[in-house]
Amino acid sequence: MKHDLSHLLAAQKPGQALDRPFYTDQGVFEADLQTIWYREWLFAIPSCELEKPGSYVTHKVGAYRVILVRGADGAIRAFHNSCRHRGSIICKAARGNVPKLVCPYHQWTYELDGRLLWARDMGAEFDASAHGLKPVHCRELAGLVYICLAEEAPDFDAFADQVRPYLEVHDLTTAKVAHESTIIENGNWKLVWENNRECYHCSGNHPSLCRTYPEDPRITGTDGDALPEPVRAHVARCEDAGIPARLRLAGSGQFRVARMPLLPGAESYTMDGKVAATRPLGRLPFRDAGTLLLFHYPTTWNHFLSDHSIVFRVTPVSARETEVTTKWLVHRDAVEGRDYDLTRLTEVWIATNDEDRRVVEDNQLGIDSPAYVPGPYSAVQESGVIQFVDWYCRTLAERTGAPSRIAAE
Ligand code: FES
Ligand SMILES: [Fe+2]
Repeated sequence: MKHDLSHLLAAQKPGQALDRPFYTDQGVFEADLQTIWYREWLFAIPSCELEKPGSYVTHKVGAYRVILVRGADGAIRAFHNSCRHRGSIICKAARGNVPKLVCPYHQWTYELDGRLLWARDMGAEFDASAHGLKPVHCRELAGLVYICLAEEAPDFDAFADQVRPYLEVHDLTTAKVAHESTIIENGNWKLVWENNRECYHCSGNHPSLCRTYPEDPRITGTDGDALPEPVRAHVARCEDAGIPARLRLAGSGQFRVARMPLLPGAESYTMDGKVAATRPLGRLPFRDAGTLLLFHYPTTWNHFLSDHSIVFRVTPVSARETEVTTKWLVHRDAVEGRDYDLTRLTEVWIATNDEDRRVVEDNQLGIDSPAYVPGPYSAVQESGVIQFVDWYCRTLAERTGAPSRIAAE
């Protein structure tokens, strides 16, 4: 059944879970792609993944296929993975290194900056300069690469300018990917986000993470006077040492950055709480600098620690399937077995991701029942979820012209 988006948005009550079609309906999924995923800046990869000129990775968002490639000049660019001859995809592998981008169909050959270099027997009239690869907007922010599929990209600078000082100290351009995992969660992308934005579920589901991560909702959701004293002290200690720490939430609600403490004594997300990498990534002046939390809707949440960093990327696959890719970054000169142990580095978040996958899938199964009725969020525990759902409804309403009680408030 196709649902009318404006009716759905108008009927949505503030402070409670979304109606069923938002999590199940093909029409809503299409609207999500058109109004959010094809228009927003999307986190793609950490830039260190493209080690040298010719290194490329491919990515798929909805119907779009994208190539990210490092050029001979060292710059990272993104292109639509569709040949300007008859449209074949050009790069089929997930990643690789090539001197030029060569279409496998008729070997049209593109420079790493997208210019068409060579096309056989196209005649004297053929204008190669008019057949370069179509660019995708691409920006690098302190070692994180974002893309935008829209013809005209929204502003990136306000986000970049606010977040850059927080990220720079982590030296992400000197990193390497120590490990990555991609899982498919059988749940709508918004359920993945809702689950990420609260720790109401942590004590019941995340035994490994709870060894080091505080489940107190005031740690990540608030600022100023509402902060508990240990958090205020942590923020002051970091800022006194020259590391930006205080919470910043975008006026639009789209992103937030904050450096928050782990549990007392904990340095990193390991089973014993000690650092996982003895060769640190970044220039944090103390090991117990906590975690720099960054989210940017709709694609990414991140944890930047004193010894390593973890970046997460969300990609919708269908109304009921979402891909979650996690990458563990360490210093590029850190040697496995000497400076870090891969199991120690990854085990907490591999377990946590799997636990999150399970709760998201269980959530989707229950919502699929016709008996599902949206229930209220806890204002104490789930303010982050309310913040996400409000951003989602507001964004959708603004871009579709639909009335929304949430947008009006
Ligand atoms: S479709 Fe790419 S060369 Fe023909
Ligand atoms: Fe979780």
